Amino acid sequence: MALPPNFLDELRLRTPLPALIGRKTKVTRSGRQWRACCPFHGEKTPSFYIYDDHYHCFGCGAHGDAIAFVMQSDGASFPEAVERLAGEAGLEVPKATPQQAKREAKSRDLHAVLEAAAEAFQRRLRLPEGRAGLDYLLRRGLSEATIQKFGLGWSGGGRGALAADLKPLGIELRQLVDAGLMRAGEGSEPPVDLFFNRVMFPIRDRRGKLVSFGGRILGDGQPKYVNGPETDLFSKRRNLYGIDLAREAAFRGQKVVVAEGYMDVIALHQAGFGAAVAPLGTALTEEQLAELWRMVPDPVLCFDGDNAGTRAAAKAAETALPLLSPERTLAFIALPAGEDPDSLTRKNGAGAFQSLLDAAKPLSDVLYDMLAAQSPGATPEARATLRHKLVGAAEVIPDKTLGAEYRRLLLDRFFESGRRAPQPRFAPRGEWKKGGRPGPPALNLPSPGIDRDRTQRERAGCLMAMTISHPWLLPEVEEALGQLDLPPDSPEALLRDGILHWHAGAEQLDPDALRAHLQATRAEELAWATRLPGLPRAAMAEALPKEVAAGWWHFFGLLRGQEALMEDRRQAELDWIASNDEAALTRLVRLTEALSAQQRGDMEDDTNEADTAL
Ligand code: UTP
Ligand code: MN
Repeated sequence: MALPPNFLDELRLRTPLPALIGRKTKVTRSGRQWRACCPFHGEKTPSFYIYDDHYHCFGCGAHGDAIAFVMQSDGASFPEAVERLAGEAGLEVPKATPQQAKREAKSRDLHAVLEAAAEAFQRRLRLPEGRAGLDYLLRRGLSEATIQKFGLGWSGGGRGALAADLKPLGIELRQLVDAGLMRAGEGSEPPVDLFFNRVMFPIRDRRGKLVSFGGRILGDGQPKYVNGPETDLFSKRRNLYGIDLAREAAFRGQKVVVAEGYMDVIALHQAGFGAAVAPLGTALTEEQLAELWRMVPDPVLCFDGDNAGTRAAAKAAETALPLLSPERTLAFIALPAGEDPDSLTRKNGAGAFQSLLDAAKPLSDVLYDMLAAQSPGATPEARATLRHKLVGAAEVIPDKTLGAEYRRLLLDRFFESGRRAPQPRFAPRGEWKKGGRPGPPALNLPSPGIDRDRTQRERAGCLMAMTISHPWLLPEVEEALGQLDLPPDSPEALLRDGILHWHAGAEQLDPDALRAHLQATRAEELAWATRLPGLPRAAMAEALPKEVAAGWWHFFGLLRGQEALMEDRRQAELDWIASNDEAALTRLVRLTEALSAQQRGDMEDDTNEADTAL
């Protein structure tokens, strides 16, 4: 039966193995894989493992993919098994025709053509003509080992150079066109080279088969990258650069990270993030998401912190929503503006990227932020629009239970954000609003001045309480803490000074020691801050480090105000560039987060019990 290889891939892709095998034996999740008692030999303790595309029994050696499973467990023939699985996956089995057999033979040939081209490109990189290309790659920080591992090469100068290289192997121009290495000429013109004077990046499919190439110009010309065209072997929307290597790394437990480009993937690999992949210059597609979810339930998407990056993240969230399940979600990280994973790891090392990864945001958070940014404002109209959008987004999720959880979570945040409407309280009386009409008379509102002082004081108290419970934060926050403009001799200022004084002489950042020091020197203020009504969770000893840091910077942002925060961020950026150290980067990332939270307008209303208790 000559079936196109693409068809069988598609069939495997659409047949989740745990579900298929779960019909014959009880499967349970075990870390990243699934386990079961082998359905092919009697056993009481499970030694049958299910991976993303195959199973293996360590007891009896049974081994295979979805098709093999149906053959083995039901005694079906290959065509029967394919027919049955296709029926369940909603696919039509293509009729085997002589043309198909021919096409299959041809794709075998195309792989061989591409492999021959890859060898030629690699060879050229080591010739004098490839020197500039090699230097370029080395200058961009790639090691020899990395260049080898990714099979990077040099295209040659065009004018049929590749065709000449491959001619002795019996490879013809026609095949080069079919393989996406040359473009058919106009009319009776001969084919022309697609890639010349470019560094070449071989693109492999999930099984490691060569399917196309990308080529980068040296320096600043346009287009920066040329990607091979769609061919019988290569479909841009189905492939991810680096997927073959990532599958193995993900299997070993590495986080799957989706970056934007070729060089990001390579730099991340070199920095130790072996499960990095990238789409090929387009937005992430459904097919690519499916491919990611075959590796892990929660791939992490990285985006540039700028507007285009935010839009791309929104697009990815939108594509993912109708495909979510409890086993399929996403997390997001935003990079400091102007950086990509390549530049970041190169300048600041793997640790910098790791800290971003550790702070990845779940899809539910990103979704809320995104929709809230689309409908800003606290008017009933804006709030109603937002609420409709939140409910609508949850409804798109096909898994009913999961959809209900999203709905609850999104609405919880929505109601929390509505508990106090920020704008009227902070708008000075009589100010003219954007629409050109005066704001509402502030008749029944509490005096903004007094209220604001008290709010700010309590916020500062919360910030001190968090610091006291978690003095390990001090290296990261010390400078920011010192900058805060607190009323002289206020309890919060006295506490702050006490904390900083202690930190200057402390050998270990031990909370008990800090507390004892403050008890001896600032007992009254200590009691005030640590007993504020409704302290945020971040002030509790048992809060997770991530929560603590997020909570701290959130409160810091509230206290500091937007303009000062922007200035802090600029300064942090300069510090980071100058010092290259991790604490500086962490500070930059936190400030960026605090600032974007503020710019979204949720500074007043974001999720903390302390606020609601005021
Ligand atoms: P970027 O412009 O972010 O490039 O494009 P990059 O990956 O950081 O590349 P370097 O670091 O400048 O070498 C991201 C991705 O978009 C696609 C490529 O896949 C690229 O990796 N792209 C970009 C193109 O296909 N064509 C282009 O002209 C530019
Ligand atoms: Mn780049």
